[in-house]
Amino acid sequence: MALQSVDPTKTKAWEALKTHFDSVKDAHMKDWFAQDNDRAKTLSMQWEDFYVDYSKNRITAQTLHLFEILAETVGLKDAIERYFEGDRINETEERAVLHTALRAPKSAKIYVDNNDVVPQIYKVRAKIEAFTNAVVDGEKKGFTNKAFTDIVSIGIGGSNLGPSMVVEALKYYKNHLNTHYIHNVDGDHVFEILEQLNPETTLFIIVSKSFSTQETITNANTVKQWFLEQASEADIATHFVAVSSNSELVKKFGIDQENIFPMWNWVGGRFSLWSAVGLSISLALGYSNYEALLHGGYKMDKHFRTRSFDANIPVILSFISIWYNNFFKAETEAIIPYSQHLNSFSAYLQQAIMESNGKQVMRNGKAASFQTGNIIWGAPGTNAQHAFFQLIHQGTKLIPADFIGFANSLYGNKVHQNKLMSSCFAQTEALLKGKTGDEVLFELERLKINDDKIGQLTPFKTFEGNKPTTTILIDQLTPESLGKLIAMYEHKIFVQGVIWNIFSYDQFGVELGKQLEGRILKEIQTSEINKHDASTRKLIDIFKNLTH
Ligand code: F6P
Repeated sequence: MALQSVDPTKTKAWEALKTHFDSVKDAHMKDWFAQDNDRAKTLSMQWEDFYVDYSKNRITAQTLHLFEILAETVGLKDAIERYFEGDRINETEERAVLHTALRAPKSAKIYVDNNDVVPQIYKVRAKIEAFTNAVVDGEKKGFTNKAFTDIVSIGIGGSNLGPSMVVEALKYYKNHLNTHYIHNVDGDHVFEILEQLNPETTLFIIVSKSFSTQETITNANTVKQWFLEQASEADIATHFVAVSSNSELVKKFGIDQENIFPMWNWVGGRFSLWSAVGLSISLALGYSNYEALLHGGYKMDKHFRTRSFDANIPVILSFISIWYNNFFKAETEAIIPYSQHLNSFSAYLQQAIMESNGKQVMRNGKAASFQTGNIIWGAPGTNAQHAFFQLIHQGTKLIPADFIGFANSLYGNKVHQNKLMSSCFAQTEALLKGKTGDEVLFELERLKINDDKIGQLTPFKTFEGNKPTTTILIDQLTPESLGKLIAMYEHKIFVQGVIWNIFSYDQFGVELGKQLEGRILKEIQTSEINKHDASTRKLIDIFKNLTH
């Protein structure tokens, strides 16, 4: 069954939120903390190894309560069930959205078109496990009978961002296999990776749900050619595997049926790392770590599906996000992990969040008259502090930020971890407090600066604070905790899409560029000339003149 279609802005709950917004928008969080000793307790949650503190947000308990009413009005509870039950909630593509099934236990029963999909999921998982063990243990060998040393995963978008982010995040758990990701069709990127490789000991995974993405197929063909300079066609069977839902095109490319790891059309590309798309994760970290990642995802699924809205992490985070996006009119959201290992986390979330909720039409086909989507950006702390934090502290824009940190480091170095996490907490405190004119005055007087100078400097050194942050403090970065964290954001996306009344699981916007690029390529390669706007025409002509 379809999801309900309710324009959220036409509900009484939205009206109530608007009235509530007018009454709290100018309040300073500092005052709320001063007035309410329990604020940090009331507006936070401990769940398993996650402590989520949302008290440093410009919300009160009433804000969340009003959002709960909104969520009930738009049928969120029912929507969550349809999502997990495999209803075709991706209506425009007539598909279920079942990445959650990929991490469900073997005993679960989840139906798509009356077929229980769990047995096929576990069949593929068994194949991933056996393949992983054979490669990691060196039983599976290359064409000169040497064990594999390098894995190259070729894919783009959802067929790259998830696996590469996870392998980077969990590199502490890595085995001896070197992993490389070829994604961009930029030949310089491809050749730089190939230069490091020995074809005799390299295994290639071509990851493409459609097996027709121009970048991936171009890169796969280049890599195949490079491989065939030293090996024979027959060796392709030993060195190339594919992850795809299009077995016909995979076979045409020259890969054996045996070497295909299937995926299904009810798994969206940007949510596919839990499927065989994550084969490189399993190879790099070992199957048990891959399983632990999935188990973490499953635990968050259970939390999300069963907890009431007032005790539900993804639901609360999505309320807060909508609050800033639609009421405070915040333009962007920052993600700041205090872990260098999560360097690619915000780039990963950019696709998950922006490709999903970057929509302007509601589920009833009418244009949305309100802002949807979030612009996501970020970088690890403390580096980010020395780069763009100035703007968050003193710029004119309101930028809500998620701070993600870990209580325990991986290598056990307390000196570093204490400094890293002190910085994390200090930033959220500074963003909350800001610096008053009196504090600046006191500081400058102590430095014995003359009155004129103090008067001149005070406005520049004063800052308002009241900048919202949410802190997600996790015990340690492990496969399981990362699985929970990723699933947490996936469900946040879902809730926001339900409330905004949009379809989160199609991506028609990216298709137009793909169509036009084919036409332009033909013009560049041949003497064909098509009609373009004057700017594009000139760019093509100049490129053709300059290229040699
Ligand atoms: O960029 C659009 C997109 O369709 C993404 O949604 C997807 O993750 C990516 O291209 C790659 O698609 P495929 O796995 O079919 O190669």
